[in-house]
Amino acid sequence: MHERIVGEPVTTILPAPDTSELHRLSCLTPELALREAAPFLAHLVRDLTFLDVHILPLFEEAREAEDWYVAHRYDGQDGSYSLQVFVWPPGTTTKIHDHTSWGAYCCAVGSVLEERYERLDDSSRFNHARLKKVWQLSWSKVDGASTVLPYDEGIHRVGNPGEEVAISVHLYGPRQGKLDGRDYDTSCNYVCDRMEA
Ligand SMILES: [Fe+2]
Repeated sequence: MHERIVGEPVTTILPAPDTSELHRLSCLTPELALREAAPFLAHLVRDLTFLDVHILPLFEEAREAEDWYVAHRYDGQDGSYSLQVFVWPPGTTTKIHDHTSWGAYCCAVGSVLEERYERLDDSSRFNHARLKKVWQLSWSKVDGASTVLPYDEGIHRVGNPGEEVAISVHLYGPRQGKLDGRDYDTSCNYVCDRMEA
């Protein structure tokens, strides 16, 4: 039996989710990796231990947050994957952006709205991009995982227009290059590189 000594700091170490399968995905093509990433996430957000340890404790701090943020992150060796838990307070949204890796996410709590965009220009002009919105969908746990391919094949914006906190779990594959991705501004047809998530 352990006795806690008064005044001694207590460190809580969260047991990491089972990521033993994820390194293998980094060797696959984006299309094949996403075929496995989507069911992995759909299963993970139903795992009661994962929800208890990694998701439920976030509700308290999420109420204090003003913008979306990444609450937990588990990175594979050599950037082979990144598993991240996003918290979306009501009314928060990302910029329109893309990634230099494949990506997939699934809601664990609540729902998020995703807008997907297509590029109309031929990428020949520096820092210039003309986008067209092609769809928007609301994603909750029952809808499974949404997936994006790298660069122009995954231009999107994710946000929470609702009144309750949403929490989603994201899985990204290895980056194709040094960048994290690109951010877009449709008001002036602008695109720029993004170094860090
Ligand atoms: Fe994204």
